[in-house]
Amino acid sequence: MMSNLHDVIRLEGFLSRQEVCMEAGNQSTSDIVLEGVRKRFELAKGQVIDAVEHVDLNIAGGEFIALIGPSGCGKSTLLRMVAGLETPSHGQIKIAGQTPNECIKQQKLGIAMQEHGLMPWLSAWDNIALPFRLAGLPVDIDRVHELLALVGLDEFANALPKQLSGGMKQRVSIARALALEPQVLILDEPFGALDAVTRRLMNNELQRIWSRKPTTTILVTHSVEEAVFLADRVCLMSPRPGRLALVEPITLERPRSLETMQTAEFRNLLAKLTAALDEVCMSAPAQ
Ligand SMILES: Nc1ncnc2c1ncn2[C@@H]1O[C@H](COP(=O)(O)OP(=O)(O)OP(=O)(O)O)[C@@H](O)[C@H]1O
Ligand SMILES: [Mg+2]
Repeated sequence: MMSNLHDVIRLEGFLSRQEVCMEAGNQSTSDIVLEGVRKRFELAKGQVIDAVEHVDLNIAGGEFIALIGPSGCGKSTLLRMVAGLETPSHGQIKIAGQTPNECIKQQKLGIAMQEHGLMPWLSAWDNIALPFRLAGLPVDIDRVHELLALVGLDEFANALPKQLSGGMKQRVSIARALALEPQVLILDEPFGALDAVTRRLMNNELQRIWSRKPTTTILVTHSVEEAVFLADRVCLMSPRPGRLALVEPITLERPRSLETMQTAEFRNLLAKLTAALDEVCMSAPAQ
């Protein structure tokens, strides 16, 4: 518990510095357009899985979208398509008018996926430095140290992923996503393995970073509370094949705080979205 609190205190200081770094990067924000996006996986013996079914969504530059929905409904698949890691079977995705792959080449995307995706043979430090190396850029040593501290892991710079807990691995993954100050942040359950205190702190700090330099963000989460707290709009996906069952604008004043979560407006949105999620989950076929 002590080390946890220690981490939390360090996180606060270093996240403030992170804002300064992100402000210094004078990049514009990017809109994202999804048009008729579908994904069908072809399995062996002619079997197919329709993971995502006809998603249309316009995300404004700098907007924060939270994506919720039952397990297996296609959230990660949709995110992987936006991140250029999967190709849509139908439809198209454009980020500031470019394909996801073009954006990746220009280092515009910061991605932290559900399976943290750390290189098992690289230390925490080298995993965070990896985007620089992949982009053929000199590693900004100060920035890597700053990011490690940002996620409260500066004492674990030399640790390999197998020597880190699940939450620590997720934090390395978030630091890596922020390394090149991306225009678009794609986060798949980034806080799922964090304890409640650190998770709340990361929610707060993500909001603070985002409001100082709005970055178009898509966050997948299983926490409706986290979705309402962070997002401009919460998108609820129906069971597989996933469609957008509900898109709920969240107009709560920013910055949002613990007090915001006590307001009737917050509680009503939470109740509405929880009921909607329950309803779609109830209608979900066995996966
Ligand atoms: N590479 C793949 N090949 C075949 N099927 C896949 C592949 N990736 C995902 N699927 C299938 O697509 C469906 C949607 O999976 P996806 O991982 O997108 O769900 P999810 O909403 O992210 O679930 P969770 O909340 O549990 O993470 C599932 O039925 C899954 O089995
Ligand atoms: Mg997923």
